[in-house]
Amino acid sequence: MRILVLGSGGREHAIVEALSRSSHAPEIFCAPGNGGTAMLGTNVDVAFEDPAAPLDWIERTGGVDLVVVGPEAPLVAGITNLMQAAGVPCFGPTADGAEIEGSKWFAKELMSRHGIPTADAAAFDSEDAAVAYIEEHGAPLVVKADGLAAGKGVTVARTEEEARRAVHECFSGTFGQAGDVVVLEDFLEGPECSLLAFADGETVLPMVPAQDHKRAFDNDEGPNTGGMGVYSPVPLVDDVTLAEMTSILTRTVDGMREEGIVYRGVLYGGFILTAGGPKVLEFNARFGDPEAQVVLPRLKTDLVDVMRATIEGRLDQIQLEWRDEAAVSVVLASGGYPGGYETGKPIHGLAEASGLPGVIVFHAGTKLQDDGILVTSGGRVLDVTALAPTLAQARERAYEAVARISFEGIQYRTDIGLKALQEA
Ligand code: GLY
Repeated sequence: MRILVLGSGGREHAIVEALSRSSHAPEIFCAPGNGGTAMLGTNVDVAFEDPAAPLDWIERTGGVDLVVVGPEAPLVAGITNLMQAAGVPCFGPTADGAEIEGSKWFAKELMSRHGIPTADAAAFDSEDAAVAYIEEHGAPLVVKADGLAAGKGVTVARTEEEARRAVHECFSGTFGQAGDVVVLEDFLEGPECSLLAFADGETVLPMVPAQDHKRAFDNDEGPNTGGMGVYSPVPLVDDVTLAEMTSILTRTVDGMREEGIVYRGVLYGGFILTAGGPKVLEFNARFGDPEAQVVLPRLKTDLVDVMRATIEGRLDQIQLEWRDEAAVSVVLASGGYPGGYETGKPIHGLAEASGLPGVIVFHAGTKLQDDGILVTSGGRVLDVTALAPTLAQARERAYEAVARISFEGIQYRTDIGLKALQEA
């Protein structure tokens, strides 16, 4: 079995790691991959921004049995449609379903039509109209560029001035076409939680909940990032809340099907747990990063079987099984991230960290140089994941591993999972 995974982050290393545990013993290719995926398979130099390029590689190299799409952009661009048309099984929704992440307003309207709880919102295609709404409505407000903005298009504006600035940033072209429409959303209070599910258009199988830490620094201070660490399970999610979040994901997939969209892939629900129950902050059409780095290591079921069942509409035949252990993952970033940072810094101590029991170090922004030296090549460099019987032990193990790793300018949070333990 030959599998091609598209992407180059910690999420894709976690996907490749889970696939490599499959009983089908697949030969795994990753385009373009990173230093970690190179250790489990073969990295291939194929750009996936152009959805036709991976298909061309597949046709030139004798075909694959499965394509797994990591990031959102190729899904929104229709890579699954293209693969389907060529007869290549592809994991990830078609473009009509991926629009749930590709357009915030599409997701809002879908939720409104199907009674999915979420913040009230309005969309604007002119700055003047958006500013008039801000002045009438007041702050706080959440300002969102409608389209894909690589995680940078959302601002929680505490004041009207901040909201006006964020709206101006969207309309001044900072996010390209993604900012041509702006969504202004009511601010909701509460802890956040991610629940991802496998969906085949009919059956929705929830994974285990996870909680990301989006701010750069300890105590949730500093700018928003792609995610600085994550843990699973989430003690504050009780059975009732989990059932409600699962029902929301199911109703969303049902709603899309009623509208002619057969959603097959991962549906990522970004929830806020309000006093009135869980509400949807956002949907994504793929695995979360870094959520995948704690969720997939906990998955016992063969990921190849789950992905094939998803594509073939057979998820009703699958029962997901999870390890009882908790998982904590700490992101090690380049100094300066999420702002400017330097790359090319040699990374030390990986073998010592990975050798600790229960520890897996996922690579994100790393590169193996021709001289065999592993260097930093991105903002988020490594995700140090540890599995252990309890969250407290997983946290301890993760930080023990973190202490063995060094590179110039290393930056990480020291409080991943801490609030969960204090609240438990
Ligand atoms: N962890 C946030 C995301 O994957 O979008």
